[in-house]
Amino acid sequence: MRKDLDRLVDAAREAVCRAYAPYSRLRVGAAVLTTKGNIYLGVNVENASYGLTLCAERVAICAAVAQEGPEMRLKALAVVSDRPGPCPPCGACRQVIFEFGPDALVIFQGPDGLEEEPITRLLPAAFRLR
Ligand code: THU
Repeated sequence: MRKDLDRLVDAAREAVCRAYAPYSRLRVGAAVLTTKGNIYLGVNVENASYGLTLCAERVAICAAVAQEGPEMRLKALAVVSDRPGPCPPCGACRQVIFEFGPDALVIFQGPDGLEEEPITRLLPAAFRLR
């Protein structure tokens, strides 16, 4: 598992340079590890109409669903940016991570380097449709 997680962080770092972020100039890269053992990548994709911006994490999750289908489940997700300092997943991404990986581990840049937390710690009261 540790080797898979190291590969995941490397993959997210490798994706960062492909972000489309001409407005914020913050490049973000994400990589997801699915329960099938596959890795999919995402980057943030901004738009002149700012609200249309897509976060790297959700782009990666959508890529995974597009390849594996609706049963796709997340084992882990890594997100990094091209700047030092914190880059935790935003609230909207946390809810989407939870949807596909209620047991997923999330790796992200904290103030002093990489941190790892289960999604349920990052989003303690996730919305569920019952
Ligand atoms: N961004 C992400 O890609 N993921 C997050 O979880 C938070 C923010 C991106 C969106 C936007 O392109 C840039 O960071 C600045 O908000």
